[in-house]
Amino acid sequence: MRYLVTGGLGFIGSAFIRLLAAERPEVEIVNLDAMTYAANPANLASIAENPRYRFVKGDITDPAAVTTAIGEGVDAIVNFAAETHVDRSILDPEAFLRTDILGTHTLLEALRERRIARYLQVSTDEVYGDVESGESLESSPLRPRSPYSASKAGGDLQVLAYRTTYGLPVLITRGSNTYGPYQYPEKLIPLFVTNLIDDQSVPVYGDGLQIRDWLHVEDHARGILCVLERGELGEVYNIGGGNPRTNLDITHRLLAGCGRSFESHVRHVADREGHDRRYAISSAKAHALGWRPEIEFERGLEATIAWYREHESWWRPLKSGEFLAYYQRQYAHR
Ligand code: TYD
Repeated sequence: MRYLVTGGLGFIGSAFIRLLAAERPEVEIVNLDAMTYAANPANLASIAENPRYRFVKGDITDPAAVTTAIGEGVDAIVNFAAETHVDRSILDPEAFLRTDILGTHTLLEALRERRIARYLQVSTDEVYGDVESGESLESSPLRPRSPYSASKAGGDLQVLAYRTTYGLPVLITRGSNTYGPYQYPEKLIPLFVTNLIDDQSVPVYGDGLQIRDWLHVEDHARGILCVLERGELGEVYNIGGGNPRTNLDITHRLLAGCGRSFESHVRHVADREGHDRRYAISSAKAHALGWRPEIEFERGLEATIAWYREHESWWRPLKSGEFLAYYQRQYAHR
């Protein structure tokens, strides 16, 4: 068995590759990654020398790179490659359209030309848009409201259209907000933890009462593997953590974990444009396949804070250069 994993140097993709390497010794792994700002070879340092692992540098929008990565053939493609940060999509939408829509299209075309048993598109609960009450089902309408979520929804719709039109063997997972080790420090949890370790303030958008459903990255990776192996072709599966928390709740936990006070370290800043208030999904369909999140949230968050404390050498180099320019652009005017 050989799997092509795209975006495998990123946060969730690298967790998936580490899981495959540990638990599926029969699977060879090819990792196609464009090495954009959020990719980090250090995420896979533990398996770089593994003889069943091969790295190909390339962009999923480039058909030649995809052909090289597929090589003699693969049994499955799992597409993690994406631009993922909502705030960046508000500043520069174009990269999101390119990777998340055109890149998906390039992979689907490769799937159309070859015999590949399964294609899994890693998507997000953000495609359902703001959920005022209740929970989104896989059949709920897509109402994306940011350039990021609209691009991801565009990818999902391409995948489903290729199922209907060409009968391709596709699956989609829609995960909830993911946290854990190796997450690039632009997202809420790693940004706040690393700022607090450095005795800097943390910027809470608006009233901080927005709700996200938190999922540990290792549970997310296991959910994707479960759907890849057991999901029904043509189907969509929500992968939710079942841990709805307000951003203020998360902020309080991170402050406590880092020994900082709310008064001295929280800065209330202007809200994100078009900020989705709440995401909530039902994961009953994935549960029926046998997947359940296993990492209890409070324990997972504590372990994550400890990981960032113990791995300054991983994140400190990231909070320089490109990141500082972005941080300035994103937060200075707030
Ligand atoms: P984020 O990690 O960017 O994920 P997403 O927008 O995809 O859910 O943000 C999670 C929540 O935290 C979201 O409601 C926005 C909020 N947030 C802040 O309040 N301040 C910040 O600096 C960031 C990055 C996020």
